Amino acid sequence: MVCLFVYGWLSVCERRDLLSRDSEALQATSACKTVMSVKVECVVKERCEIGEGPVWEEKEGTLLFVDISGQKIHRWNPATNQKETVATEKFVGCAVPRRSGGYVIGEGRSFGALDWESKSISTIAVIDEDKPNNRFNDGKVDPAGRLFAGTMAIEERPTVLELKQGSLFSLNKDHIVVKHFNQVDISNGLDWSLDHKTFYYIDSLTYTVDAFNYDINTGSISEGHTHTHTHTHINLVLHRQPCVCVGNRRMVYKMDEGEGIPDGMCIDADGRLWVACYSGGRVIQIDPQTGVRLQTVKLPVDKTTSCCFGGRDYSDLYVTSACKGMDEADMAKQPQAGCVFRITGLGAKGIPANSFTG
Ligand code: BGC
Ligand code: BGC
Ligand code: CA
Repeated sequence: MVCLFVYGWLSVCERRDLLSRDSEALQATSACKTVMSVKVECVVKERCEIGEGPVWEEKEGTLLFVDISGQKIHRWNPATNQKETVATEKFVGCAVPRRSGGYVIGEGRSFGALDWESKSISTIAVIDEDKPNNRFNDGKVDPAGRLFAGTMAIEERPTVLELKQGSLFSLNKDHIVVKHFNQVDISNGLDWSLDHKTFYYIDSLTYTVDAFNYDINTGSISEGHTHTHTHTHINLVLHRQPCVCVGNRRMVYKMDEGEGIPDGMCIDADGRLWVACYSGGRVIQIDPQTGVRLQTVKLPVDKTTSCCFGGRDYSDLYVTSACKGMDEADMAKQPQAGCVFRITGLGAKGIPANSFTG
């Protein structure tokens, strides 16, 4: 059975009160017409514990995604509805296409090379050697072909973990690893502006989407300095500790009431960011120039984890989700938790994913 949610233009207009911070433009009648065909479908009906890191592979017309704690990498073909799976030995935070073939993955505390045909994984580099309880989380390839991926402490249960253990790394084509900054709680969504001058990044427990200056030629987040400032966390405890702040870090969006925790994200062809809201059951489109939320699309599951554009013309938004930490009653209420969804009719398009060049 295909689950279909159709938000007619009337219902979008009626939801204005809920969307009071959304842009005025969207609330105008003409904008209501443009979102009249937004549709949410559950397309991959197998439950992931933590479905994550969707990447559209244009040549094959397939969607690659991981199940982090389920220790699996999936490749699903929407045309045939066939899914292939490779099991990993450790938690797998991300998997990205590699130009020379196969994939590069962030598994446990290693960058690895995956050969899809033989299902074999070989280690490229080890990170966080002093932090045995860490693991890779989200990762993405920059427009010059470097893989950026961050780490976090392994959770006791979802979002409960030792804080400030994570760092953001990149793997260059020569397989040299660069550590960009540390003091991260849950390293999550990332993407680059269309002019490649800005790096957008989410450390989930800050409840913000941040921007850094980015140098595409060197792959660096420039202008580092160290200072002390206050961190606000999910448990509302204030920590004051030294933090290395780099690259003119600034906040571009702060999560609103009910939006949950910012998780994975992707940029669209107009330079807007689509952010999956963990425990928020939605994806939001934000304008990183103005900090304004432009659209909200609700999904029938709370733990929406990440998103990417794909399909013909890159006009379908694929959204992954999680069910880890839910009890039987929660599962009964959200039978599609952990599945992958496709949103159509958004009036937005994505851009092709980059492949790792090394
Ligand atoms: C992590 C999860 C975490 C979630 C919420 C995901 O990227 O993989 O383990 O609970 O973000 O921040
Ligand atoms: C966090 C910083 C972050 C800033 C802007 C603060 O609450 O502690 O790490 O850069 O918010 O997002
Ligand atoms: Ca994530």
